[in-house]
Amino acid sequence: MNELKKCVVLGVTGGIAAYKACELLRLLQKQGMDVYVVMTKNACRFVTPLTFETLSGHPVAVDTFERPATWEVEHIALAKRADLFLIAPATANILAKMACGIADDMLSTTVLATRAPVMVAPAMNTGMWDNPATQENLATLKRRGVHIVAPVSGLLACGDSGAGKLEDVAVIARHAIDVLRGVPQDLAGLRVMVTAGPTREALDPVRYVSNRSSGKMGYAIARAAARRGAQVTLLTGPVALDVPDGVEAVRFTTTQELLDCAQSRVMEQDILIQAAAPADYRAAEVAPQKIKKQKGEDFVLRMIENPDVAATLGRMKHAEQVFVGFAAETNDVLAHAQDKLLRKNLDMIVANDVTKDGAGFDVDTNIVTLITREDSVSLPLMTKDEVADRILTQALSLRS
Ligand code: CTP
Repeated sequence: MNELKKCVVLGVTGGIAAYKACELLRLLQKQGMDVYVVMTKNACRFVTPLTFETLSGHPVAVDTFERPATWEVEHIALAKRADLFLIAPATANILAKMACGIADDMLSTTVLATRAPVMVAPAMNTGMWDNPATQENLATLKRRGVHIVAPVSGLLACGDSGAGKLEDVAVIARHAIDVLRGVPQDLAGLRVMVTAGPTREALDPVRYVSNRSSGKMGYAIARAAARRGAQVTLLTGPVALDVPDGVEAVRFTTTQELLDCAQSRVMEQDILIQAAAPADYRAAEVAPQKIKKQKGEDFVLRMIENPDVAATLGRMKHAEQVFVGFAAETNDVLAHAQDKLLRKNLDMIVANDVTKDGAGFDVDTNIVTLITREDSVSLPLMTKDEVADRILTQALSLRS
């Protein structure tokens, strides 16, 4: 992609994660951004302005009154210069000030004055994060269009464990670039669960039955959903793909494991997209030891039915949820897909004829038809990334 030449004003507030803002600044610069830093007084206790001045190549703005007189109008100049105003780490304090429109230092004054898109990446103690005051302030900011890169769970500097850890700076940088590129954040605040890849059903300790699913379509959907601001859980079978940034991956091997992982998480999802290819059958018995060749004899394998994951989850679905399935077919594509849509209580099914060139397994393109209960839209040959965006847009429209 072309390098963006944009200006990011990076606000740094007083939390221990302030040191991570140095790395964030570098990542943004590597993407071609010109970065100006504004620090709160407390941030200066964790990292010196000199560090950011040296890294950014610009003076660092700290306080409206204590610095030379030029800074008094600098906040307006900075506010105007910003293509994106990013505060990372953002303390509970700055979120509260922003929610109330308080402008009592350089950072809060500048962010109040800007007309640029604003993004915050909060980091704080779990108790502070969970406090209804913080959550209500965040809800207010979100309603006003502020982009929020939610903190992750982990071991916090204070010794507590839980939500409140600054999201990985690479993920924050990617969100920032996506906003600057105009990628819509229309899935912000939604939970999206995607299943991807094949299952493996063991025959003995060294052999299994599997299928040709590469996981590429499901991974493309998870990546696109995360870029558009969703909180994404990817249930993945064994595939040779990297988990997209900002996506939580949960691994399964068998169809039963996929069902267990999905059942325990499905109720909290807004959108479920089932691109996995779970095996319909498993061996009636898994041999405890390697099966030995019997010379001259046929090998007969008896297989028993696996649960239908999509149909089981379909029975758990509540009215606000949107469930999407896939139908990879080789014949009578639309008829089979429509039958699956109803049988599995899905809102949409993505049908493709895997015999067509450029569709199906282990390729980077697909040719699909999106079938809902009302209509069907046939899409031309597209990259799986493009198909992913179309599926998400359609799924989102079914929510309203
Ligand atoms: N699916 C599932 N559990 C299974 C089989 C399939 O959840 N045991 C899901 C897939 O993830 C997909 C959809 O159901 O979203 C359709 O998968 P497909 O294999 O085409 O459907 P089947 O019901 O297995 O139908 P058939 O094999 O007869 O075509």
